[in-house]
Amino acid sequence: MTFAKVTATAHYAPEQVVTNDELSHIMATSDDWIASRTGIRQRHIVQDENTSDLAANVGLQLLKKAALAAEDLDFIIVATVSPDGNMPSTASLVQAKLGASKAFAFDLTAACSGFVYALSVADKLLASGAYRNGIVIGAEVLSKIVDWSDRSTSVLFGDGAGGVLLQAISETPLILAETLKSDGQRGMSLTSHLTQPKSPFSTPELSDDLFLKMDGRAIFDFAVRDVPKNILESLEKAELSPDDIDYLLLHQANSRILDKMARKIKTDRSKFLQNMQAYGNTSAASIPILLSEAVDAGTIQLDGSQKLVLTGFGGGLTWGTLVVKI
Ligand code: ACO
Repeated sequence: MTFAKVTATAHYAPEQVVTNDELSHIMATSDDWIASRTGIRQRHIVQDENTSDLAANVGLQLLKKAALAAEDLDFIIVATVSPDGNMPSTASLVQAKLGASKAFAFDLTAACSGFVYALSVADKLLASGAYRNGIVIGAEVLSKIVDWSDRSTSVLFGDGAGGVLLQAISETPLILAETLKSDGQRGMSLTSHLTQPKSPFSTPELSDDLFLKMDGRAIFDFAVRDVPKNILESLEKAELSPDDIDYLLLHQANSRILDKMARKIKTDRSKFLQNMQAYGNTSAASIPILLSEAVDAGTIQLDGSQKLVLTGFGGGLTWGTLVVKI
């Protein structure tokens, strides 16, 4: 049996950087409030690019790094909650931009768990033996879905994309254990683009609710209660202890959440990589941007020598952990 291997990583963020101080000029907030509660100091915000532009930039970098032709791609999965539109999918737009004429392409919606879910799906596609090369990208332009009149959410999010090239070339599994979870019962605590029936035959009573809305406290509590259990369960399945893990790459929502996770998992906080200070919360893009930056810095090597925990959590509610040997 042949397994998936991550052979390249890449990330891209729009050039425009907006600092907390700059936000304080357009709304009642401050660098102190944002940084002390979240760890975020700045975020990248698009001017004229859309989600597929960010994702295609990552896709092109991945192909270049691996010296792979676009026609050699079998599939493209884009995890996003801020697609260019519902049709065509952002992944289809990326396929066109790359010229990956033989690839099938689809979007996957699992909010801040999107990259982890998509990597799990891609791993199975490649292990099936039916495909050889696939790209998984997390890409978001959250600046177009946040409500800029709501300071409690708009300061938290940013735009960006990150991704991995996966190739079926390994004799050993990439994913040592995984635990993916959803709880739709709690789904309304984080919503965006809620639309209602509109036709000559429907009852025109309910209005659309397009902007991102979040019950921050509920999500914070969910993250610190459910996510550590999910990580520990995954480690137990892999028959590993936290000490066996080189680095933990968690969704970058809030540095206080990472502090609490480190205490609950009883793991050195320095093993939790962190870059939300530079990007804000980029939902499905946060983990692949973090991974790509760590590979660029030499902190993580793609030589099969390190064990990582990748954990997403967010809208759905969704959460999930992959324990990977990368
Ligand atoms: N600047 C200044 N003051 C603000 C701001 C702001 N940007 N936003 C809110 N406030 C005020 C509030 O109005 C409130 O004032 P009040 O006490 O006078 O009413 C006060 O600050 C405290 O607000 P809280 O909501 O209690 O602040 P809290 O300490 O809970 O932090 C935060 C809020 C940062 C959103 C936190 O709850 C959090 O990080 N939640 C988790 C978010 C998360 O993890 N999301 C992940 C998933 S995202 C996804 O899936 C897309």
